[in-house]
Amino acid sequence: MSASARTLGLIRRYRDRLPAYDDDAIVSIGEGGTPLIHAPRLGARLGVDLHLKYEGLNPTGSFKDRGMTTALSAAKQDGAQAVICASTGNTSASAAAYAARAGIRCVVVIPGGKVALGKLAQAQVAGAQVVQIDGSFDDALRMVRVMSEEHPITLVNNLNPYRLEGQKTAAWEIIEDLGHQPEWMCLPVGNGGNITAYWRGFTESHARGDISGLPRMLGAQAEGSAAMVRGEDVLNPETIATAIRIGAPVRREEAGAAAHDSGGGFAAAADREILDWFGHVVRDEGVFCEPSSAASLAGLANARRDGLVPEGAEVVCVLTGNGLKDPDNAIAESAPPVTIPAERDALERIVLGG
Ligand code: F0G
Repeated sequence: MSASARTLGLIRRYRDRLPAYDDDAIVSIGEGGTPLIHAPRLGARLGVDLHLKYEGLNPTGSFKDRGMTTALSAAKQDGAQAVICASTGNTSASAAAYAARAGIRCVVVIPGGKVALGKLAQAQVAGAQVVQIDGSFDDALRMVRVMSEEHPITLVNNLNPYRLEGQKTAAWEIIEDLGHQPEWMCLPVGNGGNITAYWRGFTESHARGDISGLPRMLGAQAEGSAAMVRGEDVLNPETIATAIRIGAPVRREEAGAAAHDSGGGFAAAADREILDWFGHVVRDEGVFCEPSSAASLAGLANARRDGLVPEGAEVVCVLTGNGLKDPDNAIAESAPPVTIPAERDALERIVLGG
């Protein structure tokens, strides 16, 4: 009997197509192998044939785990003593978990008060040193870059080349599940690392002859931090989608090239639109993602409105993070429970609508 995709983890599963690691350096928690979910009701709302790549089912609840298995395995192989990252939350949760498993010290620097509760809990409980700054993600990234340049500490933000090597595997899984490339790929963009990784995954598959063409790449951003849409940095990024609250995308050139070369583009969505789609995806399809992930759906809706994505197109939207990450927004966006006495009649009145 052969092991399942999750049990193997990405590095063992795609050994022939990823950087080589010694067996005892591989740091895996069973990442990858996430489902591609057909979403007919949500698709009808958008006027497309929609699939959801549910990356919230990775070990720490986000797509970051794909890049952390490769980055931490490389760090372990190189004998690194410590890793560091700046994060809007998910990178810190993933780095903390993979560093714990590798037995390597982890320092994470986050924008104070702007990280969803679940992500903060993950980094703290995994034993990372969590440092908050009175500043943005962009400030935090500048600080950790200096630290990693001046000291023997490995940077595990997506400037680390191993990160994108791991993340590109999601494109390969989509091709395996669909049997072909989708017409459009839509994903939320912050630093532009993930859209770059997907594009790399698809172009490599195309070069191998696995697919006959390439998807168009659509990057979705929150209006208050839409640096790629505007074509310039945003000085004070602000959005409820805190995971993508980034004003100076470090992968802006490659992300721009992915959208441009594929014949795709970028779309912005307002916070209210993002929250509306965050509700639609779970109420239509039962798939609970974090608000930042729903930016892909809100951006797609606006790209449909503007005529960029045609009616009936086959679209894969990436839901990058799990809804459990951000309980505060989930509760604010839903009805509170009703409170009743512990009596049969009281429950009957509720159930039957008395
Ligand atoms: N979706 C989620 C849930 C994210 O956490 C991120 C990035 C993105 C999308 C955007 O990906 O930056 O590669 O364009 N989160 C980083 C972090 C910045 O620190 O967790 P990108």
